[in-house]
Amino acid sequence: MKMIRMLYLSLVVVFTLAVTGTVQAASPVFDVDHDFYPYYPSLIKWNKSSVPFNSPDVCGGCHAKQFREWNGSVHSLAFKDPIYQGELNKGIKAVGHDISRQCEGCHTPVGMITGEIKGAGNSGLSDMAISGVSCDVCHSVSGVTHWQTPSHEPENGSFILTSGVESKDGQTFIKRGPFKPTDYCGGGFHKCVESGLHLQADLCASCHQVYHYDGHFPLEASYLEWKHGPYAQKAILCQDCHMVDIPTFKRSADQFVKPERKEYRHYFSGANYLLSYLAAGAARKSGDEELAKSLMNQYEMEVERLKSAADLEITPIRRDGRLAELKVRVKNIRAGHNLPTSLTNVRQMWLEITAKDESGKVIMSSGTLKPDGSMPDDARLFNSDGMGNDFHFAVDPWVVTSFSRHDTIPPRGYKDVHYSVHAPEGVSTVSIEARLRFRQADQKVAEALLAAVPKDIDLERIYGLKAVPPLPVVDMVVKQVTFDAGKE
Ligand code: HEC
Ligand code: HEC
Ligand code: HEC
Ligand code: HEC
Ligand code: HEC
Repeated sequence: MKMIRMLYLSLVVVFTLAVTGTVQAASPVFDVDHDFYPYYPSLIKWNKSSVPFNSPDVCGGCHAKQFREWNGSVHSLAFKDPIYQGELNKGIKAVGHDISRQCEGCHTPVGMITGEIKGAGNSGLSDMAISGVSCDVCHSVSGVTHWQTPSHEPENGSFILTSGVESKDGQTFIKRGPFKPTDYCGGGFHKCVESGLHLQADLCASCHQVYHYDGHFPLEASYLEWKHGPYAQKAILCQDCHMVDIPTFKRSADQFVKPERKEYRHYFSGANYLLSYLAAGAARKSGDEELAKSLMNQYEMEVERLKSAADLEITPIRRDGRLAELKVRVKNIRAGHNLPTSLTNVRQMWLEITAKDESGKVIMSSGTLKPDGSMPDDARLFNSDGMGNDFHFAVDPWVVTSFSRHDTIPPRGYKDVHYSVHAPEGVSTVSIEARLRFRQADQKVAEALLAAVPKDIDLERIYGLKAVPPLPVVDMVVKQVTFDAGKE
């Protein structure tokens, strides 16, 4: 037995070596130019100079309004985010340190290119590194290399950073933005360059197309979903829904009207209310009431955004005059990309349906969470399942190289779900309650990620978390209707 087992093991080793060998050789489909992309697997390029990047505090000294709006955004939390830190820590242990360049390239680009960050954890890092996707990241983007990437699509941070220029007279900071510069632009601190890129979705694309670090499979594809949908056709960009307040976002989405220049805000408001809520708790604990307020403002915008993204339409289907089925149409009415988008194999959006007879007795139900917070088998989920090279189910982004199921709803599109409901004899009306529900992750997945945070992030001390509580669920849409059960 033992011999056979050893033989088997050595075969596995030989086989694994052979497979890794072929992976390391250039793929004919996704050829990587390592000289062009020196930070591979991150595809950032840096016009390296001695001109430093400045932390948001410095920019905030003159741009107080933009700073207040950005501070508390998910971009400001992109590196501190404990869920990110847990996953980063797991990734480094599973793949090795090199993979961290890929992650950090989007979650804290300057911390990555300067080589400051050595692994997961926050201790001892500069403000610039800790500040994630900060002012001087976006406003130093001088170009993109979307078409030179291995997939020939925007992926894994395919932008170019230029903080300024150095000459014999010294260093000059150059910041790129939407305006034609005036003489006083930069207040003597920086020069300004007008940048058309900042008025395009391509600026966001490099980071909002997350690809497998080496397989170049699109794990998160908000940009391409948008590009291939009706909002791109009508030039309603990421900025027009995410860099404005909620009423303005609804107007962009409903009327395809672009916001006026003065309506843009640096909120980058999305859907991650769990992160904003956790961070607000941490800010309160550290005594920073102003930041806590800004985070709760983000939390409210995120919940409001989710509640305005979708709609439900319930139609009874009768057979021989008797109620036999319900058709529930789930419509994506305001998301510029698929619903949900991005981390679709982790986010959960599902239908919960309850049908009752006139006495209040439940005659059919589906999608009700179990008491321990886990998803019931009968739930109709709109998200995706990741699959590894072995074609088995997987969650971690360094394993997932395809999807075995991808069931999200395209922009302005819909999906129909059919439920059979048989009204028992004697029942004359059936009341239906349908909810479209959302949470950031499955309870077990969130628990595993938070359990993996590096040692210097003490969840109890920083966030006041002793254990992971049941993840909060947002009801995006709730509809109640009563139908006649029909003839018996
Ligand atoms: C994720 C990228 C991103 C980050 C981070 C970011 N900006 Fe911007 N910023 C933009 C874009 C895009 C515009 C253009 C918006 C528009 O269409 O008017 C802009 C516009 C501006 C403008 C022009 C005036 C205005 O508000 O439209 C200033 C000034 C500015 N940003 C400063 C900052 C400062 C200061 C920070 C950090 C506190 C910051 N930005 C962070 C992308 C970013
Ligand atoms: C191309 C840019 C990019 C790369 C590379 C990238 N991410 Fe992200 N990551 C994002 C964006 C954008 C989101 C937000 C998606 C969303 O909200 O659905 C995100 C979200 C996450 C989240 C969810 C955070 C939360 O609070 O729910 C985790 C965890 C995460 N990333 C971990 C990683 C790890 C680990 C790596 C490296 C193996 C990595 N990311 C590489 C851009 C990137
Ligand atoms: C000493 C004050 C000062 C500091 C510090 C400062 N700026 Fe500015 N910046 C200005 C002034 C003045 C303008 C002109 C427009 C305005 O008043 O908003 C400007 C304009 C801008 C614009 C718009 C440029 C355009 O052409 O559209 C951006 C973007 C910008 N700054 C980014 C930054 C970033 C990023 C930082 C930090 C690295 C920063 N600024 C630091 C004073 C400053
Ligand atoms: C027409 C308005 C609209 C446009 C345009 C739009 N979005 Fe969104 N976005 C939404 C809405 C509504 C949600 C919340 C529902 C959802 O998660 O899909 C959202 C959510 C998101 C999320 C959060 C996903 C999560 O699960 O946490 C990200 C990331 C995002 N958008 C990125 C982008 C990017 C990048 C672009 C441009 C390529 C873009 N969006 C264009 C409306 C828009
Ligand atoms: C340098 C990379 C980078 C760029 C450029 C960038 N983002 Fe992001 N963005 C991220 C990362 C990373 C996250 C997720 C952080 C996390 O969840 O920990 C994120 C999160 C977001 C979210 C919140 C998602 C949620 O789950 O709530 C929105 C909305 C968003 N970005 C919009 C934009 C828009 C609009 C632009 C272009 C103007 C843009 N981003 C450009 C890296 C970037």
